[in-house]
Amino acid sequence: MTTYQALHYVYQPARLPATRTLLLLHGTGGDEHDLLPLAAHFGPALNVLSLRGNVLENGMPRFFRRLDVGLFDEEDVIFRTHELVRFVRQLSERAGFDATQLVALGYSNGANMAGALLLLYPELLAGAILWRPMQPLVRHVPAFCTNRHQPVLFQPGSQDPTVQLAASARYAALLKQAGFELKRHNANAGHNLLHDDVEAAVAWFHQHFPTPVLVNS
Ligand code: MLT
Repeated sequence: MTTYQALHYVYQPARLPATRTLLLLHGTGGDEHDLLPLAAHFGPALNVLSLRGNVLENGMPRFFRRLDVGLFDEEDVIFRTHELVRFVRQLSERAGFDATQLVALGYSNGANMAGALLLLYPELLAGAILWRPMQPLVRHVPAFCTNRHQPVLFQPGSQDPTVQLAASARYAALLKQAGFELKRHNANAGHNLLHDDVEAAVAWFHQHFPTPVLVNS
């Protein structure tokens, strides 16, 4: 029987009093340092927790196993999601952040782990930004819904060769139906991330989670 493992992480407490924590989830082959420079765009009144996925694919970290490109090992998606949630909840007690006030920011495989959190723990996140998302559970879609109506920013690339437009539309509809306040922002891009994605995410974030800004920082 596989047991839950800890995850590698970086935790940076906010420079201003903060209620929220940005949860950074990297893409395939990334690590806990990848998205840290982008987190700075979201302002100083946020704790930042950045995780590294526990799965290795040819030496590249991921958040869950896949059988092929775009074909996920759904049993592992479920196992790794529970593993990650248990780890984050334990860490929140040690580090002193509120585990009910996490806003996930995930790219590619990290967006899909954030999506697995929405499906399996629909009340957990305060919000989520999904850069180039793909539905993480298709054969094992749970019955899920949220009463928190958390905002979700869904940012597919309109020329992304790894995701079919119809599948992406079905996934967005599923999240909406479950009660998430989903905003779709199609990037004129492939699977790669553009500066425009970051700008759109920062604007969306400040609209839903107003935070103070540092003057003379
Ligand atoms: C990736 O390259 O990471 C995929 O597009 C997404 C995934 O495998 O979760």
